[in-house]
Amino acid sequence: MEKQIKWNNKNIFYEVSGSGPAIVLIHGFLENHHIWDELILQCKEKYKLIAIDLPGFGKSSVYGKVHTMEFMADAVKAVMENENTEKGILIGHSMGGYVTVAFTEKYQDAVSGIVFFHSQVAADTPEGRENRKRAIEIAISQHADYITKFIPSLFAPENINKFSDRISQLRKQSIEAPKEGVVAALAGMAERIDGKELLKNIHIPVFFVVGKQDSRISLDEIMRQMSLPKNTEAIILDHVGHMGFIEAPEKIFPVLESFCERIYQ
Ligand code: MLT
Repeated sequence: MEKQIKWNNKNIFYEVSGSGPAIVLIHGFLENHHIWDELILQCKEKYKLIAIDLPGFGKSSVYGKVHTMEFMADAVKAVMENENTEKGILIGHSMGGYVTVAFTEKYQDAVSGIVFFHSQVAADTPEGRENRKRAIEIAISQHADYITKFIPSLFAPENINKFSDRISQLRKQSIEAPKEGVVAALAGMAERIDGKELLKNIHIPVFFVVGKQDSRISLDEIMRQMSLPKNTEAIILDHVGHMGFIEAPEKIFPVLESFCERIYQ
């Protein structure tokens, strides 16, 4: 069911499916809640799935020039409260994982498990922040062109032709989203804090989904981060980039389901 809440005088849109223990789905940069459609279909018999459009994406409002990860985390909390959901497993794709880090910093008692779906916990390096500034300029001056080039780079090179229809669909959907939301997310990601200490100290089970051909996340760095939590599991896949829910759902979804089942048993 599609729903909307008034939050900070504007609108946050989300979709709720199924019933049972909660799983909260948080999309990445340039995406909206629909990236989770297949996972929702697979899991809705057993779980209540709450898939959110983060501020500035999908049908949710743009709030300002910078959407920090903490601000986005507060929007996620507001949706959970509206659903009377005290606790859930948070699955965050890429930027959605950064939001999950911010959420866990603030609302640890509301987190039963964390899935970093092609995501990680380090802050941007100084070079990364400079790149964000350049990305902001390009996103403002050449919005459609920026998105057209960005989307295919998220896939393993060998998958670009195979998923050309999905790439076109994602491009179209991202180009339709307001460029102010894109810029606010880029600025927010540049400001995010490092989550390595958090990861070391939490007792919450953590799962990493990793693509060996992910151009956005270094495999060496993610391997270091995986050893930080007390309770980590991971799936590391060859021929997968940054978009495992499209590139290899048949391999990823069953292991995620089993991770969730063990948390809620
Ligand atoms: C994402 O897919 O959400 C972004 O690539 C994350 C980032 O730019 O750090």
